[in-house]
Amino acid sequence: MVEQVLDVLAPQSGETLVDLTIGRGGHSGVIGRRVGTGGRVIGFDLDTANVDFAQARVAASGCRVQTHHANFVDAPAMLRGDGVRADMVLADLGFASTQMDDPRRGFSFRAEGPLDMRLDPTAAVTAEQVINESGERDLADLIFRYGEEPLARKIAREIVAERTRLPISTTQHLAEVVRKAYGNRARHSRMHPATKTFMALRIAVNDELARLEGLWDELERAVDEARRGSGWLNAGARLAFISFHSLEDRIIKQRMAALTKRGAAQRITRKPQIAGEEETALNPRARSAKLRAIRITPPD
Ligand SMILES: C[S@@+](CC[C@H](N)C(=O)[O-])C[C@H]1O[C@@H](n2cnc3c(N)ncnc32)[C@H](O)[C@@H]1O
Repeated sequence: MVEQVLDVLAPQSGETLVDLTIGRGGHSGVIGRRVGTGGRVIGFDLDTANVDFAQARVAASGCRVQTHHANFVDAPAMLRGDGVRADMVLADLGFASTQMDDPRRGFSFRAEGPLDMRLDPTAAVTAEQVINESGERDLADLIFRYGEEPLARKIAREIVAERTRLPISTTQHLAEVVRKAYGNRARHSRMHPATKTFMALRIAVNDELARLEGLWDELERAVDEARRGSGWLNAGARLAFISFHSLEDRIIKQRMAALTKRGAAQRITRKPQIAGEEETALNPRARSAKLRAIRITPPD
């Protein structure tokens, strides 16, 4: 969604971008070229390999660049300490294809790998621990809430029965257990039966929704500071978020609406922007992407 992101953020020469999920530096590299040698990109990511890759890629675009291995919820405190004044904030949520496609990271049931799913390889809790150590009820709640999986109770029961026989420590072992819980329904299911369970686990392992809410608490504070001429955001700064599932999008929509309702921000996008046909043909995941953006309103 690079074109749409450029459209809503409208980067100008000399400006500063805070990229909260710099990933492989694709968006930041393009924006880096627009802000030029007098501009700056400050990037954050949970994934150490992505941070290193993005640092080199964005530096090649000619702007100044600084990257941090950190959770975006901690970015505002770091930016405040650094005396940054940002003109643009971008968050492109979820995982990078390099993470999903690497069987050793354990995000996908399509290849055999350890049940890991940590976006931050240095984080303490893996999906294997969640699957083997949570109570049946907690597992069912997690799969229902984060995966919106109607068969959550049945799947949790099957997981607990299986793990008393043999610990579940690989992606395909878990996928097989979920398929068993689906029984005959698996044949009529449009998507792989394990799709929702895997999404739920990834959200839980990385505490994705709580971190997103925590980030918005910080952003609301920063928007108010910016309107008083202080903090790490400039008055008039643009904020763009790309989400990939309805639970994230709901949070972003509500938080942006709260700011626009009280006059602290204006919508840049009336409706969420979606990827074009060309992009979805190349990258099927882009089909579920939604881009929303706002601009901080200077005080009267
Ligand atoms: C869709 S990719 C970003 C791709 C990037 N926009 C690009 O153009 O290359 C999402 C990235 O967000 C990172 N991520 C997810 N949650 C995060 C969080 N809470 N804090 C920091 N990074 C996070 C992931 O590690 C991943 O690299």
